[in-house]
Amino acid sequence: MELNRETILQYLHERQFEIGFFDSDAELISKEIGDGNLNFVYRVYDAARPTYSVVVKQAPPYIKILGPDYPLPSDRLTYESRSLEIYNQFASQAVPTQHYFDSNAAVIVMEDLRGYRLLRDDLIAGIVDKTVLEQIGCFMGRVHSQTYTDNVDSATADKYRENFANSVMQSITADYVFTFPFMEHETNFYTDGLELDVKRLKTDDVFLQHARNLRSIFVTEQHGLTHGDLHTGSVMVKGDSAKVIDSEFAFYGPVGFDIGLFWANYLLSYFSHTENTDVQSKIKSAIIQTWETYTEEFKMDPSLKVRTLHAILRESVGFAGMEMLRRIIGAAHVRDIESIQEKKRKLGIEIDILKFGIYLVKERKNITTVYELVESL
Ligand SMILES: Nc1ncnc2c1ncn2[C@@H]1O[C@H](COP(=O)(O)OP(=O)(O)OP(=O)(O)O)[C@@H](O)[C@H]1O
Ligand SMILES: [Mg+2]
Repeated sequence: MELNRETILQYLHERQFEIGFFDSDAELISKEIGDGNLNFVYRVYDAARPTYSVVVKQAPPYIKILGPDYPLPSDRLTYESRSLEIYNQFASQAVPTQHYFDSNAAVIVMEDLRGYRLLRDDLIAGIVDKTVLEQIGCFMGRVHSQTYTDNVDSATADKYRENFANSVMQSITADYVFTFPFMEHETNFYTDGLELDVKRLKTDDVFLQHARNLRSIFVTEQHGLTHGDLHTGSVMVKGDSAKVIDSEFAFYGPVGFDIGLFWANYLLSYFSHTENTDVQSKIKSAIIQTWETYTEEFKMDPSLKVRTLHAILRESVGFAGMEMLRRIIGAAHVRDIESIQEKKRKLGIEIDILKFGIYLVKERKNITTVYELVESL
């Protein structure tokens, strides 16, 4: 059942009791607000009190912007719903409340983050807020450590593995982050002038071996609940509040993938602000801040903690490098870079990003502290 602006009202009315949000006689109004690629997202509000609203997300059994010829299992919303439950258990302040989930229709009704902006837009505008970093560092530290294999009994770990065996979405990420950007592939595109750099990368055997190793870690390592798509477009902010959304890629995997993606998107922003050293130095502090809060919140037996965090850091650095590279030469680019108007400046920035991404991938085992990471910028 695919909802639209009209049928969604009937759908909510019929489930008013289970959802428990609107009054039974409320007149509801809907508006499509989703700007994403995969799913439909609506805001529905009470006509008499427009600030009284929910967000309804529905996953069609295909990729929204491409249409029914491009199938994608709608159970991706089951993983989003399950992860929202765990997030609400361990870090409720950092996610929207989930009011209702319907697995048949692949619909989540959740708290409307009204007045929140995408973190990416703030970074593009040069706004780097320390409390956002603390909150996301805290969110990751809590969720990763509370679900970490060494912190839970084996039955619980098995349950996580089973509940988050999100294999279709995981293999999409594996292809689009670790493989397709580094081969001839129809979805790749990049700025004119990068041809030589791309060719060099695609024939760099040492790099390609690292990319395969990181892909293998991504696919096989099962350590904790990983959001799987934690870029700066998956975080919404307002004042000192930051909320994580869009966890349809959630899987039980290498938790460093979240840190890596998050850092990579800050690093992309760093390079985009070449002419603003103040913003750049704030982004450097932000990267350090995320890690410091993360390690503080990462609860684990001290005899294991240092070693575990070392391993997570190394993986995070490698994943960050891969994410930076694929955002320049793969299928999905970021607005932070795409919005740079002056062609020559954009090309220069992209060349620097490629260099830094390759450096992170190749040197990840030699980068042992977050300070070394930031100093190498
Ligand atoms: N709970 C919410 N409150 C307010 N706005 C929201 C909420 N959830 C999503 N949005 C808005 O809808 C947009 C799309 O949401 P979301 O990223 O979950 O959809 P998606 O289709 O999965 O996106 P993508 O194609 O990037 O995976 C967000 O960028 C945000 O602007
Ligand atoms: Mg999504």
